[in-house]
Amino acid sequence: MAIIAFDSVSKAYQNKTVLHDFSLVVESGQRVVILGPSGCGKTTVLRLLAGFIAPDTGSISIDGHVVAAAGKILQAPEGRHLGMVFQDLALWPHLTVEGNLEFGLKAQGIPRPQRVQRITEILRMVEMDAYLRARPAELSGGQQQRIALVRALVLRPKALLMDEPLSNLDEELSQHLRVELLRLYERLGFTLIYVTHDRAEAGDIATNIVCMRHGRIERSIPIEEFKIGQRPDFASDPRCGARCIGYPPFVIGACRCRNRWRRRSGSRIWQKGEAMIRARDLEKVRGPTQ
Ligand SMILES: Nc1ncnc2c1ncn2[C@@H]1O[C@H](COP(=O)(O)OP(=O)(O)OP(=O)(O)O)[C@@H](O)[C@H]1O
Ligand SMILES: [Mg+2]
Repeated sequence: MAIIAFDSVSKAYQNKTVLHDFSLVVESGQRVVILGPSGCGKTTVLRLLAGFIAPDTGSISIDGHVVAAAGKILQAPEGRHLGMVFQDLALWPHLTVEGNLEFGLKAQGIPRPQRVQRITEILRMVEMDAYLRARPAELSGGQQQRIALVRALVLRPKALLMDEPLSNLDEELSQHLRVELLRLYERLGFTLIYVTHDRAEAGDIATNIVCMRHGRIERSIPIEEFKIGQRPDFASDPRCGARCIGYPPFVIGACRCRNRWRRRSGSRIWQKGEAMIRARDLEKVRGPTQ
């Protein structure tokens, strides 16, 4: 059974429709990345799912139960059992790490011994058990990210929603936390809906990619198809001796096909030493080749 389903959902703000006929099915255990430019409606999709706003038309279901339909919120956010990590991590500054993690568990009525056990276990998983008594201000940016992530996961949510959680971090830390997220996924097994506008981040995290533009789904595809689509079509270009490796893909031997492909920046002449080049920096030369 689909854990989450959007069925022809639309949403307008002040008469301006920002989501059109949005339909999406997320199966249990999938890692769906919603990818698209700023303003295309990604956060709106998460807010609808979380229950902060209601769809104007269409319906949203979780585990087969309709939680919102045609202008009405039928189940409040707290009843949906979804975990959330947004860009602004929203850790409570006056509470310790333990207090931050314990808050939701208390609200669920879980007794103290189980709370302690679950908190200890999950902090060990992200190597943060030494910080039980620390307050958020005493943690680095990356450590705060980890705490926000495990605070959501310790509640064992039906799905975890993440809205550009790594966009404030430098590339190295961002990559490190992506690995950490996947490690937690392997150990705990959750369904993930992750929003970003970074294609490389999407490629690292997703099992499925939903590309959005102007409030509509452009494509909804498995990750393998997305990765193939990221490669320029060297394989079917018989006059080109170059090939792609890795992800994000690099082209090896790009200088061998310099008359058929060029840099997006416009320059067509490649130096001989340019053995490897990012595939995304290339485009096919239009018009007759030399
Ligand atoms: N509360 C609101 N009132 C009016 N318009 C809004 C509101 N929230 C979002 N919008 C508009 O809806 C559209 C989609 O916004 P949304 O926040 O979903 O985009 P996004 O894809 O998450 O963008 P970003 O990548 O910049 O976060 C935008 O045009 C935005 O201006
Ligand atoms: Mg957004």
